[in-house]
Amino acid sequence: MSPDATPPGTPVASTLSGGKTVEPVREVLWGTSAGIRKYETAEEVPAEMRKLLVKLMVVQADTEFASVQQHRPWLDRAPTLEDRWIEARIVADEARHGLQACRILRDFGEEGQRWIDELLTKHEGEHKLDAFNMKFDRWSDVGAFTCFVDRVGVYQLRAFQECSYGPLARAMPLMLSEEQLHLNFGGSVLRRMVQEAERYYGSPEEAQAAVNKWYPRALDMFGHSQSETSRRAIEFGLKRWTNEEARRRYIEEVSGLVRSVGLELPPEGFDRHVL
Ligand SMILES: [Fe+2]
Ligand SMILES: [Fe+2]
Repeated sequence: MSPDATPPGTPVASTLSGGKTVEPVREVLWGTSAGIRKYETAEEVPAEMRKLLVKLMVVQADTEFASVQQHRPWLDRAPTLEDRWIEARIVADEARHGLQACRILRDFGEEGQRWIDELLTKHEGEHKLDAFNMKFDRWSDVGAFTCFVDRVGVYQLRAFQECSYGPLARAMPLMLSEEQLHLNFGGSVLRRMVQEAERYYGSPEEAQAAVNKWYPRALDMFGHSQSETSRRAIEFGLKRWTNEEARRRYIEEVSGLVRSVGLELPPEGFDRHVL
């Protein structure tokens, strides 16, 4: 299977296909170790790959715990009862995703535990990526964040799907299905603000301002175009796409979506920090 076999944006590939249970894939599918059995324990993972895997899991867990902090104030401020319930689900899901990434870190013994201890002390504003240090000042921030930033999260998770570290690969289907709820919810909040503002909440102008605020941060999340780390992650069989490949696909996906809602994306270079 080539790294391109399952493009982001296709339905979540689970272990079920056509009603039949498919055996989990046991071999590394791409990169320099393609064809050998996947790494199943931390002890088997080569030193260089270990460093990168730990780094990726620290960033993953950091974003999950950060989004719990960002969503928390909206648990009892979201405009409708259903919105409050979905906020509660999102907070529970993100906390579980953080736990999931920390379980992988735990495989790495003392080193992993040191990272977990540090992650648990992080406050708002101290996180690694800009998008997770910004507050949700308005309800439209919740809509645009889940629509754009969670969607980047889905691209990152899809890049880990069937990766060379077995425990991580097996965590993906559930995380992906939970994330799907978040980004669909975000799209629905923005759509209702544009198309049903009188009955719902906010206004098309507020929704557009939120798009302009979060879309550039979402594009930045893919990382530098010429990233050496993303190239090595593919070699190790950990990720499927380079940062730039994933960003291209994402832009294509959200362009159609935002247009269909009645909003516009700012130009790709608008307010960008990571190129
Ligand atoms: Fe998450
Ligand atoms: Fe999410």
